[in-house]
Amino acid sequence: MLERPSEAVLDAFAAIVGPAYALRETDTVAPYVTDPRGLFSGRTPLVLRPGSVEEVSRILRLATEMKIAVVPQGGNTGLVGGQHPDAGGTEIVLSLGRLDRIRELDLRSGVVVAEAGIILQRLRDIADAQDKLFPLSLGSQGSCQIGGNLSSNAGGTSVLAYGNARDLCLGLEVVLPTGEVFDDLRKLRKDNTGYDLKNLFIGAEGTLGVITAAVLKLFPKPRGRETIWLGVASPGDALALFEIASATAAGALTGFELMQECVVDFVIKHMHGHRPPLASAAPWHILVEISSGRSADDARGLAEEIVAAGFERGLILDGTIAESLAQTAEFWRMRESMTEAQRPEGASIKHDISVPVADIPRFIEEAARAVASVCPDARVVCFGHMGDGNLHYNATQPAGAFDASFLDLYPVMNKAVHDVVRSLSGSISAEHGIGRMKRQELLETAPPVAINLMRRLKDAVDPAGIMNPGKVV
Ligand code: FAD
Ligand code: MLT
Ligand code: ZN
Repeated sequence: MLERPSEAVLDAFAAIVGPAYALRETDTVAPYVTDPRGLFSGRTPLVLRPGSVEEVSRILRLATEMKIAVVPQGGNTGLVGGQHPDAGGTEIVLSLGRLDRIRELDLRSGVVVAEAGIILQRLRDIADAQDKLFPLSLGSQGSCQIGGNLSSNAGGTSVLAYGNARDLCLGLEVVLPTGEVFDDLRKLRKDNTGYDLKNLFIGAEGTLGVITAAVLKLFPKPRGRETIWLGVASPGDALALFEIASATAAGALTGFELMQECVVDFVIKHMHGHRPPLASAAPWHILVEISSGRSADDARGLAEEIVAAGFERGLILDGTIAESLAQTAEFWRMRESMTEAQRPEGASIKHDISVPVADIPRFIEEAARAVASVCPDARVVCFGHMGDGNLHYNATQPAGAFDASFLDLYPVMNKAVHDVVRSLSGSISAEHGIGRMKRQELLETAPPVAINLMRRLKDAVDPAGIMNPGKVV
């Protein structure tokens, strides 16, 4: 256990950034989750807000010399507790928010060089203003930062066509725990010169170094975009529709989200300004996005073809193609509100799983049995990125006032659901990462060779063990 830094040491860190950017004795809490177990909160003696890569370098160099733990923090929207210091007040938080410049926009190479503290929505807007698309799309995009997106290898609703954060990154600038700056900010789409070091830091959740900038891909903005909201009877029908949409639209299929009716109802009930997306009820809902590089008519034609084929095969109970940009925006706002909309429903044991796409219906059926075997009255709240085989599968307390005791079921419930995932050769963390929340389970269930290799890499890059201790491995 690391010691609490002395006042003199805290002063030395604060002097690097200047008093205006050094905040003493702060509690950090994730604004998006209610978790009395303290997984999503912490206490730090000092939050540092560096304004340059050089300041980040001096902070890490001093931290390694003094053996003081450093927890990098971006937008604080992480859902596995990776961005929080421990409760003991021994770990310094390094907040990247001030490093938020666009260093270069190279439209002809189709890249942008962005600093880590840029908020995702702002980067998307900057690309859009240049008639380009930066496709990473998460419900947290108003707060999360590029550095956090890369460090958590974020997924979101556009992975189907564009990949995770890792797939969008061509180059990285990282400050190592020693203070050395690893400048790999190259715009090359092909580069086979030794180990792909940048990918060590993408998805490392702040345990190997601090990402300070990245070269990110920009895509041509689609000429036509259609959004379809469908009601179906079962996950099996959703899968059949996914196969039709994939075959019909091919590369133009840029989103395929599955949502259980209850979570659509939570959004209508708890988040203002929403109304039912369909005229009739349906046990499962699907949100499909078609993006055509050719034309609006092409996108519309593909959307109509998919809906017609779905009705013809009796797969669709009800459906609508968004008739306006406003309705398109409303459909996506509904989907992106689902994390928040669950909170008033009480304690929830969350899972972010992936299985082969074809096994989604089987997972949903077997996981429901698993949840009921642990707590017959628990409610299942299921939604997510079906096209990626990724579901957010949350066992939720019975309706009523927040019941913290429901979280006591966490270990048994988590194991029951993840045993189903493992039986389907799936992943216990599809996109949110490991953080603090899933570290123990990773250590217990991942192949020992893998854990051993991760630990050897960690020791090689961060020998003093100052980077985000207690997270991942
Ligand atoms: P933080 O939460 O601040 O940190 C996350 C991790 O990255 C921590 O381990 C932290 O130490 C590390 N870190 C942060 N900045 C740096 C840096 N510069 N260098 C090194 N390490 C760093 N996630 C998805 O994948 N898909 C979704 O669809 C999705 N939807 C969400 C919807 C909502 C409403 C919310 C609240 C969250 C959602 N998330 C989703 C989770 C979260 O938004 C992502 O994990 C996001 O990438 C975190 O970015 P952040 O800047 O908030 O990072
Ligand atoms: C989402 O897809 O909405 C996010 O991953 C957040 C969540 O799981 O709640
Ligand atoms: Zn998600």
